Amino acid sequence: MKYGLVASTFKKEEKRAMMKVIESDNFSMGRHVAEFEEQFAMYFGMKHAVMVSSGSSANLVAIASLFYRTGDPLKKGDEVIVPNISWATTYYPLLQYGLKLKFVDVELDTLNMDVNELRKAISKKTRMVITVSVLGNPCRLDEIKRLCDSNGIILFEDNCESMGATVRNKFAGTFGLINTFSTFFSHHISTMEGGLILTNDDNLNWLCRSIRNHGWTRGIPASSGLYSPADNDFDNAYRFILPGYNVRPGELNGVLGKIQLKRLTGFLKVRRKNADIFQQLFAKDERFIIQKEIGSSSWFAFTMIVNPDTKIKRDKVLLKLNKAGIEHRMITGGCFLRHDVIKYFDSVVTKSVNADLGHFKGFFVGNFPVDLRSKLEYLHKTLKSI
Ligand SMILES: Cc1ncc(COP(=O)(O)O)c(C=O)c1O
Repeated sequence: MKYGLVASTFKKEEKRAMMKVIESDNFSMGRHVAEFEEQFAMYFGMKHAVMVSSGSSANLVAIASLFYRTGDPLKKGDEVIVPNISWATTYYPLLQYGLKLKFVDVELDTLNMDVNELRKAISKKTRMVITVSVLGNPCRLDEIKRLCDSNGIILFEDNCESMGATVRNKFAGTFGLINTFSTFFSHHISTMEGGLILTNDDNLNWLCRSIRNHGWTRGIPASSGLYSPADNDFDNAYRFILPGYNVRPGELNGVLGKIQLKRLTGFLKVRRKNADIFQQLFAKDERFIIQKEIGSSSWFAFTMIVNPDTKIKRDKVLLKLNKAGIEHRMITGGCFLRHDVIKYFDSVVTKSVNADLGHFKGFFVGNFPVDLRSKLEYLHKTLKSI
């Protein structure tokens, strides 16, 4: 492979730290996870971070927590607005919890939810909007937050693809009532597998901590308000208060998170430098539509959509990339509506023009925190003759 999608960012420090955990024989969630959570929350200027086993489980636990919150919990049948493009596990917990999905199209150039379409889609029944900042590019989060606040709608950010992106110097993943991140291998920082939930809400924080851990009270103080303790230790040791899961991370994940988080600012700098080169090479190339930044993208990858105004066939482009050893993938998961699994969803689709173009004419190539100048020039040269 001449130009792959990802490269490992684990150095000696990560490997040494993992060895220390192995030698300690303490693998289950403990000190390292707790320290990583604290440092992650601090980095993003939020009150609480809860680590789980993946970005998908972050979405699952976060949705569950909204059903058990005090005040005004979500209920079965509530309407949730989602973008047409995202990863499948943005949508699954919504179906599994009986929410009613309303799909809104994305903008062709930014690939994020079109705010005008969102405005039109909001109804009296809308309880929540889920934003997905696609491949590093933050949604118009300030505008969407204002819209949600003025309509009494919950904002949930699935920020699994855009750690480090900002809108007006505020991090994506800090605008929502609840926000999720992935630390899977190919993401902005890696804990091998892993995910986090960020929130400023105390009640949601405790709910997420219990739900990720069997719906148990272990580690949850009575001051959380989630339960009243029994009058003896025997009963208190095994108290189950919520229908939860076991989606805890392990100490190996936690220890990696601490080291990788220290590197995040540096990783973002290199990703952005690569993006400058990519933009210089392709911004004026009318054959392709590349992703236009909203705010400051953390550039997960470089998207290219074959311009529908040309006669170029995507198949021909992909063939060239295959022959040249340039790895590429469908943008995020493509348009979710075009996948077989949609038959299980009872949903409303407002419009799907741009998401379909992204699905049928788009692809992305990799970005990772290594100087990619020569690889990007190679990509440019490869596509020159098309
Ligand atoms: C938008 C979005 N949400 C959720 C996920 C799931 O994250 P994970 O792979 O850590 O389960 C992903 C995965 O990349 C994603 O892109």
